[in-house]
Amino acid sequence: MARRRAKDPLADLDPQRLPRHIAVIMDGNGRWAKQRDLPRIEGHAKGIDAVREMVRACRKLDIPYLTLYAFSTENWNRPRAEVEALFGLLVHFLRKELPELEKNEIRLRVIGRLERLPQAVRDEIADAVERTSRNTRLTMTVALSYSGRDELTEAVRRIAAEAVAGKLKPEQIDEALVAAHLLTAGMPDPDLLIRTSGERRVSNFLLWQIAYTEIYVTDVLWPDFGPEQLRAALLDFAGRERRFGQTSEQLGGAD
Ligand code: FPP
Repeated sequence: MARRRAKDPLADLDPQRLPRHIAVIMDGNGRWAKQRDLPRIEGHAKGIDAVREMVRACRKLDIPYLTLYAFSTENWNRPRAEVEALFGLLVHFLRKELPELEKNEIRLRVIGRLERLPQAVRDEIADAVERTSRNTRLTMTVALSYSGRDELTEAVRRIAAEAVAGKLKPEQIDEALVAAHLLTAGMPDPDLLIRTSGERRVSNFLLWQIAYTEIYVTDVLWPDFGPEQLRAALLDFAGRERRFGQTSEQLGGAD
């Protein structure tokens, strides 16, 4: 009997040309909802489904790091009801997905000014982070109440304090030391940054870490970003030559 199955869009990608770390600015939830005359929070709820798909895809492709921009420090200026609903969705996601994270050896990390979050949300996050802390197949980092400039400012403050305390000489401050004082310490920099819904900005996300990251912008709104769209981003990435400031000739590529 002839069986017809939809082709898996992630099935035939070259594993040698996949990024090790994907970062995502998940934009367009509000527009997705507006296009359908739905409240904005429905767009965020649909955005959570896209998060789930993305995590599954990275796990399937053996991509070890995924970092998602879920809430910037500027997002605190949104209507209170939307902010509260977003945290509600996050807590729901953590509770519901924890068994899947554990089963698939996925570690959850959260970066940002968590002290600004409601205590109950922080407790929920701390529990999920602790319960997944020994997992190593995929590190899913969620940037929450996050600002790249704030992260760098805090790193400078801590380095200065160590210098003043005599633990560090100014000439010992190098790029590795700065990186070690960031919230992403220990993680490789992103190879690929995906931004949905067409905006060509980095919006205060991982400013230090994306120095050499390839940027892929798609007009697709985040709730519509699924395996097909990820395939397009990964094929685009696979076709790029990463020169890190060198010439094509130095890298042995075509000019
Ligand atoms: C941008 O759309 C999206 C956000 C500010 C929130 C994204 C958060 C989630 C999808 C939930 C995160 C949860 C987990 C588990 C990581 P927008 O509201 O800025 O859309 P617009 O620009 O069209 O208004």
